[in-house]
Amino acid sequence: MNHIKLWALFVCLVFTINGRVLAAEDEATLQRGAHVATEVCNTCHSLKYLKYSDFLKLGFTKTQVDSMRGDKNMGDPLTAQMAPSDALAAFGIVPPDLSLMAKAREGGAGYIDSMITGFYTDASGNTDNHVFPGIKMPDILGISQADPASRKALLLKAKDVSTFLGWAADPMADARENLGYAVMAYVFVLTVLLYLLKNKIWGRLEQSPLTLH
Ligand code: HEC
Repeated sequence: MNHIKLWALFVCLVFTINGRVLAAEDEATLQRGAHVATEVCNTCHSLKYLKYSDFLKLGFTKTQVDSMRGDKNMGDPLTAQMAPSDALAAFGIVPPDLSLMAKAREGGAGYIDSMITGFYTDASGNTDNHVFPGIKMPDILGISQADPASRKALLLKAKDVSTFLGWAADPMADARENLGYAVMAYVFVLTVLLYLLKNKIWGRLEQSPLTLH
């Protein structure tokens, strides 16, 4: 029976290591995305359901968060750097809050990625967007003007920031997922133990069969 226990332990170990490696990759993407969101998007857009302290959940150190928040407090929400009235005067519309945008649009983070990379220059030299024709947001990443070499870096930047916005719309998703893994491992180990117990009980019956008189 020992080989079953070892096998169960091995499976749990592979699951855990695999989960950790993936988590480390995700964290690097999310950290880069967080920089783009705070340094670029946050100029016009608020992310009001996020607090600066939430960045600690992405593996940033306190010193790094301090440099991101400037004179704001750790517990402050990410309000837009541009006053809404100035944005209204400049764009004719107040840029929407981005914290729940990935939930609000069909396609989620993928939609945001396609939209911010969907800018192009039409035949008459005007900038428009494939995904949102007539959008009042400028081509902030400069995608429509980029040559193929710099375009690649911009696409990566867009992927990072949209992945980050996907996280921002549900920062507790990771914790839920980890709990899911723990529950799966628990149920798995319990199944193995119950199976061994069942074998033990039935084994005893088989050794000394009940005789009815
Ligand atoms: C210069 C100001 C400005 C910056 C910087 C900016 N945006 Fe926008 N954004 C706008 C405006 C204005 C709108 C409203 C557009 C409209 O409804 O026509 C908008 C709308 C959006 C929308 C909503 C589109 C929809 O479907 O309604 C998303 C998503 C978005 N921006 C993402 C981003 C991201 C991501 C960044 C950072 C990479 C960013 N924006 C940077 C001005 C800006």
